[in-house]
Order: sequence, then C-alpha cells, then structure tokens
Amino acid sequence: MPVEAAAAPVIAIDGPSASGKGTISERVAAALGFHYLDSGALYRLVALAALRADIDLDDETALAALALDLDVQFGGGVIILSKQNVTDDIRSEICGMGASKVAALPGVRAALLARQQAFRKPPGLVAEGRDMGTVVFPDAQLKVFLTASAEVRAGRRYKQLKEKGIDANIRLLLQELRERDQRDSARSVAPLQKAVDARELDSTGLGIEEIVRQVLDWYRQKAAGSLGQ
Ligand code: DC
Repeated sequence: MPVEAAAAPVIAIDGPSASGKGTISERVAAALGFHYLDSGALYRLVALAALRADIDLDDETALAALALDLDVQFGGGVIILSKQNVTDDIRSEICGMGASKVAALPGVRAALLARQQAFRKPPGLVAEGRDMGTVVFPDAQLKVFLTASAEVRAGRRYKQLKEKGIDANIRLLLQELRERDQRDSARSVAPLQKAVDARELDSTGLGIEEIVRQVLDWYRQKAAGSLGQ
C-alpha cells in the first residue's frame, strides 16, 4: 500500500444490522469529503454472485475464489457486478441472510480484506461494517460502535420497506434480525464486537442529525488532539 494511502485517516463505524450505520456513514463521509466503504455490500455481492452461479453457500473454497475475482464497481451510489446494476438486488433479505452465511467463512473474509483496505485513500475514508475497527482498519483514527435495541432496528427496517412499497411483517423482521445478530456475533472469525478503543453510541431515541453531529465532534476532537492542539 502506498505510504500516502496508509496514512489517510479512517473513521470506522461498526454495529449490528439496521443500526443506522449506512445512513450515518454516508452523511459523515459527505460532511468531511471522505470516501465511503459499505463493507456489507461486498458480502452481499458474494452471496448474490453465488446464488446466481448456483454455488453452495457453505462451499468455502468456491466462495473464496468467487470473492477474490468479483468484478465489481462502486460509484455514484450504484453498484455494478459483472456489468449488471445490482444496487437494489443486493438489498433483498435473501442476499442479507446469504451475506451473513458467507461472512462466517474465513476464506471469504480473507479474500475480501485487501479489496476493503484499498478504499483507504486521501483525504480519508469512512468505513462501515462489523469488523472495520477490529480487523480491517485496526489503526482507524476514530472507531464508533453504533447500537440500538433489536425492536427499534426492526421498526426502522419495517418503515424502510414500507416506504419502498414492500410488504413486511414486523415480527418476522425482528426474528430475522435476532438470527442475524446471533450469527454475526457468534462466528469464530471477526465476530461483531466492539473494539476496545471504540466509542459506543446508542442511537435509540436519537435523530440522524444528532448522531452525525456526535461522530463529527468526536472525529474533530481526535484530529485536533493528533495535531497537538
Ligand atoms: O451491513 P449489512 O447488513 O449489509 O451486512 C450484510 C452481512 O454481511 C451481515 O449479516 C454481516 C456481514 N458483514 C460482515 O460480516 N462484516 C462486515 N464488515 C460487514 C458485513
């Protein structure tokens, strides 16, 4: 990695499904003019590519090879996989569940590591996921662990789906969220956990603007501290 890229600051935002990481990370990145990495999208892309190629979701060798060779482009809010726009396809519950399964395989995680680290470029990066602060960017300038109760998260997901005109059942959503939390937290490799040096932010009862402001305040304090101010 070029020295310049390695030195670019990183804000790592980790947390469980539907904790609001995506919205918050995009807003923080826009406010600072930083690049943005949605690492969950990569796991979702592996799941989608596997489903399309009829690869079994526990065939680690085949999935790791697929992850290494993914032909994907991100840009302008659009995700292109093998020349096809899959921006909406990867958001389906099937891809979410599939992503959670393939993400438990060490070979897949290893195959995606360098691809994630390559997003670190000047002037900086906001990276969101489950292991940004613990594994992918352990030297991140700021690490935030964003939480909210499972009920609040299921409620948010329900509202998002309804707004898109998709029929949803809140009890089922809550059950699926809990299953996914359990799998993401219990896996042996890079489980969802708060980095020791992460700041925890419980978003229950907070608005998006308040959360974004808090993350930006923390980052500015850190940046000022590292300049010795
Ligand atoms: O954030 P998301 O819901 O798009 O993530 C989809 C799945 O990918 C999630 O169930 C866990 C997994 N994931 C992961 O293991 N590590 C990451 N850094 C990001 C996502």
